[in-house]
Amino acid sequence: MIRTTNFNAGPAALPLEVLQKAKDEFLDFNGAGMSVMELSHRSKEYDAVHQHAKALLKELMEIPEDYEVLFLQGGASLQFSMIPMNFLSKEKTAHFVMTGSWSEKALAEAKLFGNTSIIATSETDTYRYIPCISEVPSGGAYLHLTSNNTIFGTQWQQFPDCSIPIVADMSSDILSRPIDVSKFGIIYAGAQKNLGPSGVTVVILKKELLSQENEQVAKILKYSTHVKADSLYNTPPTFAIYMLSLVLEWLKEQGGLSAIAQRNRKKAEMLYKAIDDSHGFYRGHARTDSRSNMNVTFTLTNDELTKSFITKAKQENMVGLGGHRSIGGCRASIYNAVSIEDCEKLASFMKHFRESV
Ligand SMILES: Cc1ncc(COP(=O)(O)O)c(C=O)c1O
Repeated sequence: MIRTTNFNAGPAALPLEVLQKAKDEFLDFNGAGMSVMELSHRSKEYDAVHQHAKALLKELMEIPEDYEVLFLQGGASLQFSMIPMNFLSKEKTAHFVMTGSWSEKALAEAKLFGNTSIIATSETDTYRYIPCISEVPSGGAYLHLTSNNTIFGTQWQQFPDCSIPIVADMSSDILSRPIDVSKFGIIYAGAQKNLGPSGVTVVILKKELLSQENEQVAKILKYSTHVKADSLYNTPPTFAIYMLSLVLEWLKEQGGLSAIAQRNRKKAEMLYKAIDDSHGFYRGHARTDSRSNMNVTFTLTNDELTKSFITKAKQENMVGLGGHRSIGGCRASIYNAVSIEDCEKLASFMKHFRESV
């Protein structure tokens, strides 16, 4: 079988070694005589998987002791609502930095629960850059930001120092580079880009926030419910958590976050070079100081050329290169599991395609 070179934005490429291990263990997990999917979530065999995933995530991200790690469901989208539902009210304000469609969705949900303020935005420039925060808020419930903007292809290079909790949607760049977790109140991420298959959402939450939770929230939507039950309040997505544990093992074998960050930088540089060397044939959407190492977004001069680029890439067994339906153009999502060779292949194709028209 020839593996397709997968530049999908999410669900996205998974490491081949992970898929192979899952395949090997599929019918008989650790001698249990059944698949991991068939294990009771209350069994000691499943508990070992659950604890292993949690411990590896803590180790790889160097998560301090005063943080909880939760495995929830509902995607990052549920976090857009669950965070303000628990931590915002009509007497409080949540501050937002607007860097794209996902920030807009998070803001829209927060408005249902309390006051919101936009402290910086790049909306008028089609979210081409991460705006500077001239004044960091000193009061308010929290400051929300999206660390990597999957659709527009921008990424925060440095996070602000802030006296109120920073809440970060890291769905599309978690585990792609080392970050200082202690700077954040809450980090959340849907799994389907860098963590594994869709179905599980990772939430990393500073313990002291739990005392500030609103009372009138349905039990299943309170963080404290999931903390008390160790993410086993109801049946968790056991297979997705198992896959997460395999991805984390793989990441550790790759040398951890510093090593993967170096590799990710190298991959992105190759594609940005193909854009910058093209004399305007490819135009990068993101301003150079805000370029993402996860989603490389670019346009060609017209729709016909874009279509031809995507079709010819597909003939070369490369898929997922169409831009998000909201902005069009092209996008190469190059998460952790996309290899240096995959990016070399795309960069070389970009050069040859340009020369061929
Ligand atoms: C940055 C970001 N936030 C949130 C989401 C929504 O995630 P989910 O589909 O898990 O709700 C996505 C999905 O692509 C995303 O890229």
